[in-house]
Amino acid sequence: MATDDTRIDEIVGGIYRISTWQQPYGITFNQFLIADERPALIHTGMHHLFEPVQKAIAQVLDPAKLGCVLLLHWEGDENGGMDRFMSTAPGCELVGSQLSIQLNASGFGLTQRVRGFRDGDTLDLGKHKLRFLETPHVHHWDSMMVVEETTRSLFPSDLFIQPADQPPVVTEDLSAPMIDLYRAVGIFAHEFPVRHVVDRLEKLDLAWVHPMHGGSFERPAWLKYVKALREKEFAYHGMLLGREIAKIAPM
Ligand SMILES: [Fe+2]
Ligand SMILES: [Fe+2]
Repeated sequence: MATDDTRIDEIVGGIYRISTWQQPYGITFNQFLIADERPALIHTGMHHLFEPVQKAIAQVLDPAKLGCVLLLHWEGDENGGMDRFMSTAPGCELVGSQLSIQLNASGFGLTQRVRGFRDGDTLDLGKHKLRFLETPHVHHWDSMMVVEETTRSLFPSDLFIQPADQPPVVTEDLSAPMIDLYRAVGIFAHEFPVRHVVDRLEKLDLAWVHPMHGGSFERPAWLKYVKALREKEFAYHGMLLGREIAKIAPM
Protein backbone atom coordinates (compact mmCIF):
# COMPACT_ATOMS: atom_id res chain seq x y z
CA MET A 1 0.00 0.00 0.00
CA ALA A 2 1.64 3.27 -1.09
CA THR A 3 0.78 6.95 -0.56
CA ASP A 4 3.05 9.03 -2.83
CA ASP A 5 6.54 8.13 -1.65
CA THR A 6 5.27 6.68 1.62
CA ARG A 7 4.25 3.05 1.88
CA ILE A 8 2.78 0.96 4.69
CA ASP A 9 3.29 -2.79 5.04
CA GLU A 10 2.49 -5.22 7.82
CA ILE A 11 5.69 -6.94 8.94
CA VAL A 12 4.55 -9.25 11.74
CA GLY A 13 1.62 -9.59 14.17
CA GLY A 14 0.00 -6.16 13.89
CA ILE A 15 3.30 -4.26 13.47
CA TYR A 16 3.32 -2.05 10.37
CA ARG A 17 6.28 -0.28 8.78
CA ILE A 18 5.49 3.15 7.32
CA SER A 19 8.42 4.04 5.09
CA THR A 20 9.33 7.22 3.21
CA TRP A 21 12.28 7.27 0.83
CA GLN A 22 14.31 10.48 1.14
CA GLN A 23 16.70 10.84 -1.80
CA PRO A 24 18.88 13.63 -0.30
CA TYR A 25 19.84 11.39 2.62
CA GLY A 26 19.95 8.13 0.66
CA ILE A 27 17.94 6.30 3.33
CA THR A 28 14.34 5.50 4.15
CA PHE A 29 12.69 7.06 7.19
CA ASN A 30 10.54 4.39 8.82
CA GLN A 31 7.88 4.80 11.45
CA PHE A 32 6.20 1.79 13.04
CA LEU A 33 2.55 1.46 13.91
CA ILE A 34 1.43 -1.17 16.40
CA ALA A 35 -2.29 -1.80 15.89
CA ASP A 36 -3.89 -2.64 19.21
CA GLU A 37 -6.49 -1.38 21.72
CA ARG A 38 -4.04 1.42 22.46
CA PRO A 39 -2.37 1.99 19.10
CA ALA A 40 1.26 3.08 19.27
CA LEU A 41 3.38 5.00 16.78
CA ILE A 42 7.11 4.46 17.18
CA HIS A 43 8.86 7.62 15.94
CA THR A 44 6.89 10.20 13.94
CA GLY A 45 9.28 11.21 11.15
CA MET A 46 10.21 14.82 10.49
CA HIS A 47 7.64 17.61 10.84
CA HIS A 48 6.94 17.67 7.07
CA LEU A 49 6.21 13.92 6.99
CA PHE A 50 3.17 14.28 9.25
CA GLU A 51 0.61 14.19 6.42
CA PRO A 52 1.89 11.14 4.50
CA VAL A 53 2.49 9.24 7.76
CA GLN A 54 -0.97 10.11 9.03
CA LYS A 55 -2.51 9.04 5.69
CA ALA A 56 -0.67 5.73 5.92
CA ILE A 57 -1.92 5.14 9.48
CA ALA A 58 -5.46 5.85 8.28
CA GLN A 59 -5.25 2.81 5.99
CA VAL A 60 -5.12 0.65 9.14
CA LEU A 61 -6.88 2.58 11.91
CA ASP A 62 -8.22 6.01 12.86
CA PRO A 63 -5.18 8.24 13.61
CA ALA A 64 -7.31 10.15 16.16
CA LYS A 65 -7.28 6.95 18.25
CA LEU A 66 -3.50 6.82 18.67
CA GLY A 67 -2.75 6.00 22.30
CA CYS A 68 0.92 6.87 22.36
CA VAL A 69 3.73 8.31 20.30
CA LEU A 70 7.13 6.95 21.25
CA LEU A 71 10.36 8.80 20.66
CA LEU A 72 13.55 6.81 21.07
CA HIS A 73 15.77 9.90 21.30
CA TRP A 74 15.16 13.60 20.82
CA GLU A 75 15.87 14.39 17.14
CA GLY A 76 13.97 15.75 14.13
CA ASP A 77 13.27 12.44 12.43
CA GLU A 78 12.36 10.72 15.70
CA ASN A 79 9.80 13.17 17.00
CA GLY A 80 9.55 16.16 14.63
CA GLY A 81 5.85 15.38 14.07
CA MET A 82 4.92 14.83 17.72
CA ASP A 83 3.00 18.08 18.25
CA ARG A 84 0.82 17.41 15.20
CA PHE A 85 0.07 13.77 16.14
CA MET A 86 -0.64 14.79 19.74
CA SER A 87 -3.04 17.54 18.68
CA THR A 88 -5.01 15.27 16.32
CA ALA A 89 -5.23 12.40 18.85
CA PRO A 90 -6.65 13.80 22.10
CA GLY A 91 -5.95 10.64 24.14
CA CYS A 92 -2.36 10.30 22.92
CA GLU A 93 0.59 10.37 25.31
CA LEU A 94 4.17 11.23 24.40
CA VAL A 95 6.43 8.43 25.62
CA GLY A 96 10.20 8.59 25.87
CA SER A 97 13.11 7.68 28.10
CA GLN A 98 13.04 9.39 31.44
CA LEU A 99 15.94 11.54 30.26
CA SER A 100 14.18 12.59 27.02
CA ILE A 101 11.08 13.62 28.93
CA GLN A 102 12.80 15.22 31.92
CA LEU A 103 15.38 17.18 29.93
CA ASN A 104 13.91 17.76 26.49
CA ALA A 105 10.11 17.54 26.66
CA SER A 106 9.99 19.66 29.78
CA GLY A 107 12.70 22.01 28.45
CA PHE A 108 10.67 22.54 25.28
CA GLY A 109 7.55 23.30 27.36
CA LEU A 110 5.80 19.93 26.90
CA THR A 111 4.46 18.96 30.29
CA GLN A 112 0.99 17.56 29.54
CA ARG A 113 0.38 13.96 28.38
CA VAL A 114 4.07 13.03 28.61
CA ARG A 115 5.60 9.98 30.32
CA GLY A 116 9.21 9.01 30.88
CA PHE A 117 10.26 5.36 31.20
CA ARG A 118 13.29 3.73 32.76
CA ASP A 119 15.18 0.58 31.92
CA GLY A 120 12.98 -2.49 32.52
CA ASP A 121 9.67 -0.59 32.65
CA THR A 122 6.79 -1.99 30.59
CA LEU A 123 3.71 -0.62 28.84
CA ASP A 124 0.64 -2.68 27.87
CA LEU A 125 -1.06 -1.78 24.59
CA GLY A 126 -3.70 -4.56 24.77
CA LYS A 127 -2.37 -7.68 23.05
CA HIS A 128 1.11 -6.22 22.67
CA LYS A 129 3.46 -5.39 25.51
CA LEU A 130 6.40 -3.01 25.30
CA ARG A 131 9.54 -3.25 27.42
CA PHE A 132 11.96 -0.33 27.59
CA LEU A 133 15.75 -0.42 27.53
CA GLU A 134 17.77 2.66 28.35
CA THR A 135 20.67 2.71 25.85
CA PRO A 136 22.62 5.89 26.63
CA HIS A 137 25.06 7.20 24.00
CA VAL A 138 23.67 4.98 21.24
CA HIS A 139 23.75 7.63 19.68
CA HIS A 140 22.35 10.32 22.00
CA TRP A 141 22.60 10.28 25.79
CA ASP A 142 18.79 10.10 26.16
CA SER A 143 18.52 7.11 23.77
CA MET A 144 16.32 4.14 24.50
CA MET A 145 15.12 1.08 22.58
CA VAL A 146 11.87 -0.82 22.83
CA VAL A 147 11.12 -4.53 22.70
CA GLU A 148 7.61 -5.75 21.82
CA GLU A 149 7.35 -8.99 23.72
CA THR A 150 4.65 -10.98 21.88
CA THR A 151 6.49 -10.84 18.53
CA ARG A 152 9.99 -10.62 20.15
CA SER A 153 10.56 -7.48 18.11
CA LEU A 154 13.26 -4.88 18.74
CA PHE A 155 12.90 -1.24 17.76
CA PRO A 156 16.52 -0.02 17.82
CA SER A 157 16.02 3.36 16.16
CA ASP A 158 19.28 4.23 14.29
CA LEU A 159 21.18 1.06 15.21
CA PHE A 160 21.32 -1.57 12.40
CA ILE A 161 20.79 1.11 9.73
CA GLN A 162 21.00 0.14 6.04
CA PRO A 163 21.37 2.66 3.21
CA ALA A 164 19.23 2.82 0.02
CA ASP A 165 15.52 2.27 -0.54
CA GLN A 166 15.13 -1.08 1.18
CA PRO A 167 11.97 -3.21 1.04
CA PRO A 168 9.90 -3.87 4.21
CA VAL A 169 11.88 -7.04 4.95
CA VAL A 170 15.54 -7.56 4.01
CA THR A 171 17.32 -10.90 3.92
CA GLU A 172 20.53 -9.71 2.23
CA ASP A 173 23.56 -9.09 4.48
CA LEU A 174 23.94 -5.29 4.47
CA SER A 175 26.28 -5.11 7.45
CA ALA A 176 29.22 -3.76 5.39
CA PRO A 177 27.20 -0.83 3.94
CA MET A 178 25.92 -0.21 7.51
CA ILE A 179 29.49 0.17 8.81
CA ASP A 180 30.47 2.41 5.85
CA LEU A 181 27.43 4.62 6.48
CA TYR A 182 28.21 5.00 10.19
CA ARG A 183 31.77 6.01 9.37
CA ALA A 184 30.58 8.56 6.81
CA VAL A 185 27.89 10.20 8.97
CA GLY A 186 29.54 10.02 12.39
CA ILE A 187 26.54 9.29 14.61
CA PHE A 188 28.40 7.35 17.32
CA ALA A 189 31.08 8.96 19.45
CA HIS A 190 32.59 5.59 20.38
CA GLU A 191 32.11 1.86 19.77
CA PHE A 192 31.95 1.00 23.50
CA PRO A 193 28.34 1.98 24.38
CA VAL A 194 27.07 0.33 21.19
CA ARG A 195 28.86 -2.96 21.87
CA HIS A 196 27.64 -2.92 25.47
CA VAL A 197 24.03 -2.66 24.19
CA VAL A 198 24.63 -5.36 21.57
CA ASP A 199 25.73 -7.68 24.42
CA ARG A 200 22.48 -6.92 26.25
CA LEU A 201 20.37 -7.47 23.11
CA GLU A 202 21.95 -10.86 22.47
CA LYS A 203 20.46 -12.13 25.74
CA LEU A 204 16.90 -11.21 24.71
CA ASP A 205 16.14 -13.99 22.21
CA LEU A 206 14.88 -11.53 19.61
CA ALA A 207 13.02 -12.75 16.52
CA TRP A 208 12.68 -9.45 14.62
CA VAL A 209 14.59 -6.17 14.34
CA HIS A 210 12.86 -3.07 12.95
CA PRO A 211 15.43 -0.34 12.21
CA MET A 212 14.33 3.23 11.58
CA HIS A 213 16.32 3.36 8.33
CA GLY A 214 16.40 0.33 6.01
CA GLY A 215 14.34 -2.84 6.16
CA SER A 216 13.27 -5.12 9.01
CA PHE A 217 15.03 -8.44 9.37
CA GLU A 218 14.86 -11.69 11.32
CA ARG A 219 17.34 -13.21 13.73
CA PRO A 220 19.65 -15.05 11.25
CA ALA A 221 20.40 -11.80 9.37
CA TRP A 222 20.65 -9.86 12.61
CA LEU A 223 23.59 -11.98 13.80
CA LYS A 224 25.64 -10.71 10.82
CA TYR A 225 25.08 -7.08 11.85
CA VAL A 226 26.02 -7.95 15.43
CA LYS A 227 29.28 -9.54 14.24
CA ALA A 228 30.15 -6.46 12.15
CA LEU A 229 29.53 -4.11 15.09
CA ARG A 230 31.79 -6.27 17.27
CA GLU A 231 34.64 -6.54 14.79
CA LYS A 232 34.72 -3.33 12.73
CA GLU A 233 35.40 0.29 13.66
CA PHE A 234 32.46 2.55 13.03
CA ALA A 235 32.71 5.46 15.48
CA TYR A 236 33.18 9.11 14.51
CA HIS A 237 36.56 9.75 12.97
CA GLY A 238 36.18 13.24 11.52
CA MET A 239 33.30 12.80 9.04
CA LEU A 240 29.94 14.42 9.74
CA LEU A 241 27.02 13.70 7.40
CA GLY A 242 29.50 12.84 4.66
CA ARG A 243 31.61 15.99 5.14
CA GLU A 244 35.13 15.94 6.51
CA ILE A 245 35.45 18.45 9.31
CA ALA A 246 38.60 17.21 11.01
CA LYS A 247 41.43 14.83 10.37
CA ILE A 248 41.56 12.37 13.23
CA ALA A 249 44.57 10.11 13.36
CA PRO A 250 43.83 6.47 14.19
CA MET A 251 44.72 5.54 17.79
FE1 LIG B 1 18.99 9.65 15.41
FE1 LIG C 1 16.80 8.17 12.75
